Formats: sequence, structure tokens, C-alpha cells
Amino acid sequence: TMQAAIFDLDGVIVDTAKYHYLAWKRLAGELGFDFAPEDNERLKGVSRMRSLAIILEIGGIRLSEAEQAEWAARKNAWYLEYIGAMTPAEILPGVVPFLNRLRQRGIKTALASASKNAGLILEKLGIGPLFDAVVDGNAVAKAKPDPEVFVTAAARLGVPAGECVVFEDAVAGIAAARGAGMAVIGIGDPRILTEADLVIADFTRLNEALLTGEPSDAAL
Ligand code: G6P
Ligand code: MG
Repeated sequence: TMQAAIFDLDGVIVDTAKYHYLAWKRLAGELGFDFAPEDNERLKGVSRMRSLAIILEIGGIRLSEAEQAEWAARKNAWYLEYIGAMTPAEILPGVVPFLNRLRQRGIKTALASASKNAGLILEKLGIGPLFDAVVDGNAVAKAKPDPEVFVTAAARLGVPAGECVVFEDAVAGIAAARGAGMAVIGIGDPRILTEADLVIADFTRLNEALLTGEPSDAAL
């Protein structure tokens, strides 16, 4: 039985992928190459520095560590500009009702994100109080697909891994959750998220299932 639900942030609670993409595209542009939307899938769930390494590889560019740190900081400043205007209206459909329903049932909730901006985003969205624990990119040493962020979230909640269900939109995140020994529900395309136990398009589907006690509910 599910005692805790652990949520990824980017792509699960809010679609920040489009802002990350805009900022990376701007960086690529300044370095003189194009960054296509298709390549963006590779960056989902991946840490800032690892994302930069992937982009530079795509552009065929080599930079010193100091230069990498500078470009990463520049990208983050642009990203912060984009998310600065974010409001609760950008919370993905069904998320808030689902979180409330879990809490009513006594199920613990946590956020487990690779992003160092997770705290700021939660503040912008006004949903910080809906999580019993928040573990972000500042709190862990090893990025997804390493299980550390999920293991840490479960420990903070005091729930064993086998009683946790993770909600993830990224291949790297699903691998991390599996590595932690947790069940995973993918949010997105089942053709991409092949390692998830179950894939749903969005949380409005899950809410219906929970209300009616239909098959997906059994998966929880
Ligand atoms: C999430 C996103 C990634 C992003 C990472 C780090 O996992 O899916 O695209 O690179 O967080 O985010 P940050 O806000 O710390 O740069
Ligand atoms: Mg994500």
C-alpha cells in the first residue's frame, strides 16, 4: 500500500521544460549553434552541469571548467528571468486536487527535484505547504539517475522505499526511482517512459481513477 507519494517538479508539477529550453537555446545561440527542441528530451531530469555538457557536445564545443561554470551561471540567470513571471495558473492540471486527496487519505507527500531552483518555484506556485518534505538539487550530491534524491525524500518522510510511489516525467528520474526500489508512475508518453510501472498523460486521469476505485487505483 502506498504510504508516501514523491513528486518530481519539472514536467510533473509545472512545465518548466519550456523555460529551461529557451535558456539553453539562448546559450547555444550565443555560442554560435542551434539547439533543436528534439534534443531537449535528453535534458529532462538531468542536472544543470550535466545538461551543459550535453549541449556543448551537441555544439561540438569544448570549454574549460571555469568557462563552463560561467555559462551555467548565465543560463541560470536567463532561466530565473523566465520563471520570474510564473504564477499558480501554471500548475499542471489535476495536481493540486490530487495532492489534497492524498493528504486527506493520510498519505505523506514529498518533492524530489534535481533543480536548485525548486524552492523558488514552489514559492511562485504557492504549493510549498502541500509537501511534507522537499529535497532539491541543493540537498543531494548525486543527480538522477542516481537514486539519492528519492532515498533522501523517503528517509525524511520516515517511509520505507517499498511503500513509496514516485511520479516522474523523465527517463533519468524513472531509473532513479527504480534504483531506490520504489514504484513509479510516468507522466507523459508511454513510448518514451518504458521503464515506468504505469504511464498516465496527466493527473486528471489519476484523479478519476482514485475517485472511482478503477484499476489504476489498484496500482497505487
Ligand atoms: C530538472 C529539470 C532539468 C534541469 C534540472 C536542474 O531536473 O528537468 O532540465 O536541468 O532540474 O535544474 P536547475 O534549476 O538547478 O538548473
Ligand atoms: Mg522532470
